Amino acid sequence: MTLDEKHQGLKEIKDELLNLTSSPLYEYRQANKYYPVIGEGNHEARVMFVGEAPGKNEALTAKPFCGASGRILDELLNSIGLKRSDVYVTNIVKDRPPANRDPSPEEIIFYGPFLDRQIEIIEPEIIATLGRFSMKYILDKFDSSERLRSIGELHGRVIPGSLKGLAMSVLPLYHPAAAIYNQALKNTLFKDFQVLKVLT
Ligand code: URA
Repeated sequence: MTLDEKHQGLKEIKDELLNLTSSPLYEYRQANKYYPVIGEGNHEARVMFVGEAPGKNEALTAKPFCGASGRILDELLNSIGLKRSDVYVTNIVKDRPPANRDPSPEEIIFYGPFLDRQIEIIEPEIIATLGRFSMKYILDKFDSSERLRSIGELHGRVIPGSLKGLAMSVLPLYHPAAAIYNQALKNTLFKDFQVLKVLT
């Protein structure tokens, strides 16, 4: 796919999401003047980060990971010499669920196909999942033999896989939000990011 085709494909996804009145979160989005958060970064990225769902800051600005979790993500990227513009950052669920609750299974099923299309367009070599929801979604998609394991077992481990004939590895990582008040987990995230440094 050419870069122009990638831009075009991602723009189509954005337009569809903006007009997605059938979404279980559409009314909540409209009532709060929120935006869907599609994703941001390099359309030719080798590394794609997949989080859970936008929080309030993200829904107000349409930018992924722009609040407290985003500051941690930036620190982690910095630690291995990467910038946001080197990678692509998105979520499974594209609209903010109420009250910062976890994404529901229905929301994951509803928004998953948009993420699948983003992966097919960007064709990253590595999908770094942030938190257990995106880890489970991606490992299920890859039909990985590791898909029943917990994030405690899999974080920081490179899991080879392929999607539609394209070789892609998954790197499960803890969600940066979990590290806001937990220094030990933050240290683990820094250590796990070193794995990414070796791969990129
Ligand atoms: N948490 C997420 O999972 N995604 C965001 O974009 C922000 C916070």
